[in-house]
Parts: sequence; C-alpha cells; structure tokens
Amino acid sequence: MTDIADVLLVHGGTPLEGEIRVRGAKNLVPKAMVAALLGSGPSRLRNVPDIRDVRVVRGLLQLHGVTVQSGEEPGELVLDPTHVESANVADIDAHAGSSRIPILFCGPLLHRLGHAFIPGLGGCDIGGRPIDFHFDVLRQFGATIEKRADGQYLEAPQRLRGCKIRLPYPSVGSTEQVLLTAVLAEGVTELSNAAVEPEIEDLICVLQKMGAIISMDTDRTIRITGVDKLGGYTHRALPDRLEAASWASAALATEGNIYVRGAQQRSMMTFLNTFRRVGGAFEVDDHGIRFWHPGGPLNAIALETDVHPGFQTDWQQPLVVALTQASGLSIVHETVYESRLGFTSALNQMGAHIQLYRECLGGSACRFGQRNFLHSAVVSGPTKLQGSDLVIPDLRGGFSYLIAALAAQGTSRVHGIDLINRGYENFLEKLEGLGAHIELPSAVPAAS
Ligand code: EPU
Repeated sequence: MTDIADVLLVHGGTPLEGEIRVRGAKNLVPKAMVAALLGSGPSRLRNVPDIRDVRVVRGLLQLHGVTVQSGEEPGELVLDPTHVESANVADIDAHAGSSRIPILFCGPLLHRLGHAFIPGLGGCDIGGRPIDFHFDVLRQFGATIEKRADGQYLEAPQRLRGCKIRLPYPSVGSTEQVLLTAVLAEGVTELSNAAVEPEIEDLICVLQKMGAIISMDTDRTIRITGVDKLGGYTHRALPDRLEAASWASAALATEGNIYVRGAQQRSMMTFLNTFRRVGGAFEVDDHGIRFWHPGGPLNAIALETDVHPGFQTDWQQPLVVALTQASGLSIVHETVYESRLGFTSALNQMGAHIQLYRECLGGSACRFGQRNFLHSAVVSGPTKLQGSDLVIPDLRGGFSYLIAALAAQGTSRVHGIDLINRGYENFLEKLEGLGAHIELPSAVPAAS
C-alpha cells in the first residue's frame, strides 16, 4: 500500500468549472533539453512545465557537465553544454529514476564523448516497452553496445555514419533517437516508417534552429543530412495536447466546463472530432479551447488508437471514463500498447461495465491480434460511478482515476498520486481551482 502522503481523498459529484493553463508538452520538452547537448553554445527553452520528467533530464544533463539555469521569463531554461563530461554510472542510475528519456542521451553523448551508459529504464507500465529498435538503429550508425548487469554500455569507435533505416513500427522514441543521432553523423540518413507526431515536428524545428538539415516527406520518410557542428537554439515548446485532452475529458465526464488556456487546435484535430462525436462541445479561440458538456446524453462510439494523425493512445484512458457515461456500447481498440486497458478493472469496481477482449474489435487488425493481449474494450453505458479505493497504475490511467473519482457519487481514496506529477504540472492546484472537492493527506485521518 502507498504512503499516506501519496493519497488523495476525492469527494465526487461536482462538475469541474473554470480555467487551467497547459504549458510545454511533456513529450517534447525533455527531448529538446537533450538536444541542447548537441550544441556548441547555450540554448534557451521556453514554456517548460514543472514536472518530474523535466527534473530527471535536468539532473542527468547536470551530471554530464551541462549547466541548467532559469531564464528571464517563468518556465524558461538556459542550457549550456560547453563543458560536457562523462558521468559516474551509479549517479546516472540514481538520477534516471522511472523515466524512459535517458535512452535518448545515446546519440548526443556518442557524438560528444565517444561513449554513453544507459541504465535500466522505467516509464509507465502499459506494455512490454522494449528498446530493441533504439539499439538496432544505433548499431546501424556504427555504435557498439555491450549489455552488462547494470545497464548498456555504448561506444562510437569512430564518427557515426548516416544510414538507411526502416523502423518496424513508427515508434516515437526511435524516431527521436534517429534524429538526435543523425544530425551530427557523417553523410545522409534516410528514415522510413518514421513517427510524425507534432512533438517530433517540434523537435525537428529545434534541431533546424541549431543548424541541422532535415526534410520530411508525406510518406513518413525523414531525411537528415549530417553537419559538422550545431549551435544553440531559442525555442518555445509546443503546448501539451495530451494534458489538454485530459482536462477536456474531465469536463465531459463531470458535466463541467473547462477553458484550457494554451490548448492548440492544430495538434488536437483528431481528438476534437472524437470529442464532438461523443457529444462534447468545444470552442476554439486565439488563446485556448473551451470544453464543456452541453447537457443531454452522450453518444457511444467506436474508437481506435493509432500513431499520429490517428487518435493518440495517451488520449484513450481519460476519454474512456467519459464513455462510461455515454448511452449504448462503445468499442475501444488500443493498437499502440498491448496492455493499456488494465486500468478499466478499477472503473468496473466503481460501477462501470467494461469488458476486455483479446480480439481486434471494431477496426482493423493490429499487431496484438491473435495474441494473448486484452487490448480491446466494450464499454456499456451509461453507468453511475461510486467512490472507491483506487491505486494509480500509470500516468494517464492515474489521471483517469481522478476523473472517475470526480464524476462518481461519494468519496474515493486515490493512492499513488505522486505518479501524476511526472506529466501534469500542479494538478492538485488546478483541480482545486476548478472547484474539485479534494483533501490532502495531512488533513485526512488514516482509515480504520
Ligand atoms: N516499441 C518497440 N521497440 C522499441 C520501441 C518501441 O517494440 O524499441 C513499441 C512499443 O512497445 C509500443 C510502440 O512501439 O508498442 C510505440 O512506442 P513508442 O516508441 O512510440 O513510445 P515511446 O517513445 O516509448 C512516447 C511517449 C508516450 C506515448 C508514445 C506513443 C514519451 C516520453 N513517451 O513513448 O507517452 O504514448 O510515445 O505516442 O514521449 C504518456 O505520455 O503517457 C506516454 C506513455
């Protein structure tokens, strides 16, 4: 059981109403920080949220001799990689914590130091999350990799060379690995079947500002011409479309009305279409998007997650909570992670009717069909939710539990809320600002 300090009491049944602000994307900011390692001078990154993944990367950069300081405006970091140096393996291991970002240090460190060390990686428990693509790619650039008990030791016996790569699946992290390695490699790299998420485009913008030559074709092919030297960058991170969608789902599930300052239509078009199909209302203006429940029943839908421009897997869990309030049978087919529906058993404990299947339901066949993965769900609604004891399983599942607890009648005890700090800045303050009835652990007597 979790520490009492990691527990939140949520008294549900009150619509969330008001305004919150999202800052730079969790899935871009740490990578742009890593990119600063490639520069010969300082970089300035703006719109940086105060979340755990940022703190982990900051610590790792500092261990490698990068100075990281606050800039002039709030949320601005100045990263100076002039004196990059090797770090102690045990220190790297201690700092990497539960993040998956350290794997992206490989290319930049191989260029700067000729060697790199990657400890065992964490990240959310939503599937096997292997890193085989990353190492295959690095080997193709000419790196050698030795696996030892404490992690992977990489070396670049000579300057890394551009190559022709085809990813078995359009993996976000592997695409970033290629970008961060190819920009300083000798010659041209052609990457096909690349991921093209908006966060990847933003990382390409960062690298282009540094002096990289990168072009993107419409068929998921990215071409990078290696250069000898890169400079620093000044960049404002794109807003977090995943956090914005989480708050939109919270507005829908609690019958509320939330203005998400900073939310951007362009990177959320697929989510917005689905939100409208479910029956949610939204209005876009120059500074953000207002999301609300317009009253009346919500619609059941068929939903399939996919790589961009499809419906992002990270939008799935929060929206499923709203689907428990829709009339009829919704079908959800998760095609990116094989185990991202396990969080639904706690929703059933609260009164939802969600059945999981191994088959690919409602859409096309995916990599997980005919295998032993419960990766499709049928959600039967609407169902009243009752407060319950909930243990947070992963980042987005955790936020979904908060939404469910807020939509439910009665009180929920949510354990493991610290995990949410990995990707949601000041979420407790934001919830309170929206009128949520929550109690922090110090004010809560222990359960008898
Ligand atoms: N995969 C492999 N081998 C690899 C790499 C990936 O088989 O070497 C598989 C994965 O197991 C998964 C699929 O490829 O089934 C896609 O994984 P991907 O590499 O795209 O994911 P990632 O880079 O590890 C990032 C985000 C995730 C987001 C995914 C998909 C970060 C730090 N994480 O993960 O974000 O779900 O892309 O868009 O950017 C979250 O924000 O909650 C989160 C999990």
